[in-house]
Amino acid sequence: MCGIVGYVGGGQAAEFLVDGLYRLEYRGYDSAGVATLDGHGVLHLVKTAGRVDRLQARLERAPAPGAMGIGHTRWATHGAATDANAPPHLGGDGSVAVVHNGVIENHAALRQRLLADGYRFLSETDTEVIAHLVDHCLKGAGPDADLAADGYEALVAAVAEALAQLRGTFGVAMMFRRRPGVLIAARRGSPLIVGVGRGEHFLASDASPLVGRTGRIVYLGEHELAVVTPGDLRVVHRDQGRVRHRVEQLEIDSGQVELGPFDHYMLKEIFEQPETIRAVMAGRIDHDAATAKFGGLNLAPHELRAVDRFLMTACGTSWHAALVGEYQMEALARIPVEVEYASELRYRNPPLCGHPLVFAITQSGETADTLAALREMKRKGYCTLGLCNVVGSTIAQESDGGIYLRAGPEIGVASTKAFTSQCTVLAMLALYFGRLRHLSFDAGLRVIEQLEQLPEMVAGALETNDAVRRIAEKYAGCDNFLYLGRQFNFPTALEGALKMKEISYIHAEGYPAAEMKHGPLALVDANTPSVFIMPQGPVYDKVTANLQEVKARGGPVIAVVGRGDTEAASLADDVVEVPNVDDFLQPIVSVVPLQLLGYHVALLRGCDVDKPRNLAKSVTVE
Ligand code: F6R
Repeated sequence: MCGIVGYVGGGQAAEFLVDGLYRLEYRGYDSAGVATLDGHGVLHLVKTAGRVDRLQARLERAPAPGAMGIGHTRWATHGAATDANAPPHLGGDGSVAVVHNGVIENHAALRQRLLADGYRFLSETDTEVIAHLVDHCLKGAGPDADLAADGYEALVAAVAEALAQLRGTFGVAMMFRRRPGVLIAARRGSPLIVGVGRGEHFLASDASPLVGRTGRIVYLGEHELAVVTPGDLRVVHRDQGRVRHRVEQLEIDSGQVELGPFDHYMLKEIFEQPETIRAVMAGRIDHDAATAKFGGLNLAPHELRAVDRFLMTACGTSWHAALVGEYQMEALARIPVEVEYASELRYRNPPLCGHPLVFAITQSGETADTLAALREMKRKGYCTLGLCNVVGSTIAQESDGGIYLRAGPEIGVASTKAFTSQCTVLAMLALYFGRLRHLSFDAGLRVIEQLEQLPEMVAGALETNDAVRRIAEKYAGCDNFLYLGRQFNFPTALEGALKMKEISYIHAEGYPAAEMKHGPLALVDANTPSVFIMPQGPVYDKVTANLQEVKARGGPVIAVVGRGDTEAASLADDVVEVPNVDDFLQPIVSVVPLQLLGYHVALLRGCDVDKPRNLAKSVTVE
């Protein structure tokens, strides 16, 4: 949701800005724009509703020259996706240009004040409020505060004064018409990264635009403001004044953000799963102690031993992974787990006794509800762990400890590889906590053996691609799908249904298979396929009975079964065979054909697989 880029250096800013905005497209947006400042002090503003392609076409007709600039992809919150509301926005008479991620909660009150002060608004956005407010504070600092030869002190003070009046979250980047050669960026609750080049600096709201430009990055921390010039970077904290910044290595290579031989990022990411599962386990298995090991838990062994319940919180696909984790923890560690939507948890007041450990599970590490739930739990004094994919993300920074998913950038809006990495980490955590308690050495080794075979098993599940494509051709015209599974595969059913609905716009529901009889069975007819997830295991016979109930009512059945299952093959209309694994790992294998089914159906229906309508990759608003 929304993306920021910025450049100051010796090259043509627009070239980086547009390229960076293309790289940020995956986050979801509905308008885009850039502002550059040329050597004559002329500010060029080019913006449009719609895709970056349209912005690019506009720039071909009206180029934006200059060696510094800012750019943005906007996902509409305040005001529709129109040219007027498209970013960047100017403050005063064009003294300052601003781009902004996040939401300013007191924008209406600020707008009223600024209107009373004579400011004229050209858009409905909260970003324009920031731009005018900065201009107002600059003017309040004296007639030429923006020009003061004081190492930008007056400029920074005016920006800080404006930011202090904002309620809500923001990542902002701005530049000043009368002060070429300096960008100011700041964050509160919305990420910003500075890329350090030779005689140039880049800004971006996530690392993808920086790949191939520089390998050296600085994550801005909460309440930090950066003064960025071609040759210098200075970071100032709201309360601590100037602070030393740490330059880190960017650990993403260009192969990870390019499509390669695949038609879509979603397909690429589905096929990356054997590798991403291998990566999430690398160095985290301790054969000698028959357990898992993690570097970043930041808890002493006696504190971990004392944990007597888990509260897992997340949204969407990550919430489904938490449900898988609930079954895994109960089975391997025998520790009670509560799973709660982050959007609910943030406003709930659950009584948690004993020594709970709170998990915030998130691919992006920026989901607004998950972040708010994490903060609320921290405020109450609970110990928190972040299971995040994006390195340096806000939730990764704010959790007491954490485990990175190491899945690499997930660019397709529909989450795939992050889900299987989350489930794998949760299985490893279940092993770890199990081994702290009752799980024997031999049982631990058996779990490790299964985990180590997992990448190969997922590779086996990918072999279903052709079969799944044929099934998709048969059912792509249906308007409803049901997904049914039990125990470990109840969350798999939910995840399969979510994949289908979000990219193909087909109505799809997931249920525990036995719940069918309590209502959803009424939906079954010849045009409503039911996808049963039923690998061999303790509930196989029960699910087979549920399958027969659907068949008896004329519903077509697609069954995802373990290899060699002839019984289900004789009952179902279509069968997809996946490798057999222990039940605690089944969701990681069984979800693969469901991801592929969603993908192929969406493709056959002509949907934009990587950028489904109305959705954003990183949901940074409540
Ligand atoms: C579905 C999907 C979303 C995300 C959800 C949480 O495919 O991608 O449901 O899972 O928005 O996002 P993260 O994991 O980034 O917190």
